[in-house]
Order: sequence, then structure tokens, then C-alpha cells
Amino acid sequence: MIGETNNPTNLFQISFSIDYMKMEDLQEVVFIEEQSGLNRWGFDSYKRELFTNPDAVMLVARSPYLAGRGVLGFFAGWTVADEMHVNNIASHPDYRRMGIGRSLIEAAIHEGRMRGVSFVLLEVRASNDAAQALYKKIGFNFVNRRRDYYRLPTEDAFVMKLNLLGR
Ligand SMILES: CC(C)(COP(=O)(O)OP(=O)(O)OC[C@H]1O[C@@H](n2cnc3c(N)ncnc32)[C@H](O)[C@@H]1OP(=O)(O)O)[C@@H](O)C(=O)NCCC(=O)NCCS
Repeated sequence: MIGETNNPTNLFQISFSIDYMKMEDLQEVVFIEEQSGLNRWGFDSYKRELFTNPDAVMLVARSPYLAGRGVLGFFAGWTVADEMHVNNIASHPDYRRMGIGRSLIEAAIHEGRMRGVSFVLLEVRASNDAAQALYKKIGFNFVNRRRDYYRLPTEDAFVMKLNLLGR
């Protein structure tokens, strides 16, 4: 679908919806994970989260115009008491800067609010400017730095937090 976009680097926009992740989505979720430079979770970990963790928040962005399940991006997190933790989020490399990442996080925050969450916490690689820009745009603030938190390659993490109370 060709449409207007605010982003001068993208001439294309695509319609998508945010859905709860299903078993049938996992192959496409793992494909996007593998293309995104994330620390690997893999098929079995997503499947375990889906089926055994009642506190998991697992979402996909989906387009009806693409083949297969049309997965354009995914979010994986969980809620613990009044915290929601972001574990993984990625959008398909061919469909970035189209609002998919933002829509996924906003939907996850909505889900978190319904579960009584009062803040959202995440770690992000110190060099990951794109993700940090997304989180800052949504309202996250830097709260901590964890030395050598990541492996392959070893790198510091920034901890970012979004307070939901009063928003
Ligand atoms: C980070 C990521 C999820 C963003 O997804 P996305 O679908 O491209 O994000 P959106 O289109 O919703 O971007 C929303 C806003 O975030 C900011 N943003 C996103 N990507 C950006 C980039 N590469 N550079 C600068 N700002 C960026 C912009 O403010 C953007 O709004 P705009 O396009 O109107 O300027 C995506 O780049 C990705 O999958 N990266 C690889 C995996 C990853 O790093 N995940 C995060 C782990 S902590």
C-alpha cells in the first residue's frame, strides 16, 4: 500500500494491527529476531513464554497484505507486581520507521496498565541509538548504566524507565 508518511526516508506505509502473539506466528517472530541483532531467544523460549508464563506480554504487529502470518514486528515482555519489563522488541528490517515499534510498545503499555503496572523498565545496548530514540520519544528516561551487561559483543546497558502513574 502506497501512502503518505511523515518520514522522508520512507515512501511506503503499510497498514498493520497489533495482536496477541500465537504459536503460528513464532517462525516469523524468530526470523525477525535473527535479522535484528538481538541476543538470541529462539523458537523454544518464545514458545515456553507463550504457553507457561501467565505474566508474559507477547504481541505481534501484523499486516493483512503480506504472505504467511504477515508478522512485521513483535514485543516480548512480562509483568512482575507493578512493573512491566521489556525483554525483546523488533520490527522487520524492511519495515522500520513506519510506527511499528512505537505501536507495539504502546499496546504493551496499555496491556500493562490493565494489569495494574505503574512503571516500565528495560535495558538497551549503549550503542543502540535507534531503540533509545524510540524509548525517549515514548517518554522513557535513563535511570542507570550496567557495566558489561551484554555479551557477543560485550557492552554496557542503559536502564530506561517509564513511570505510568500520573500519565
Ligand atoms: C528499535 C526498533 C524496534 C524501532 O522500530 P521501528 O518500527 O523502526 O520504530 P518506529 O517506526 O515506531 O519509530 C518511532 C520513533 O522512534 C524513533 N526512531 C526509531 N528508529 C530510529 C532510528 N533508526 N533513528 C532515529 N530515531 C529512530 C523516531 O523518533 C521514530 O519516529 P519517526 O520515524 O516519526 O521519526 C527497530 O529499529 C528494531 O527492530 N531494531 C533492532 C532490534 C532492537 O534493537 N530492539 C531493541 C532492543 S532494546
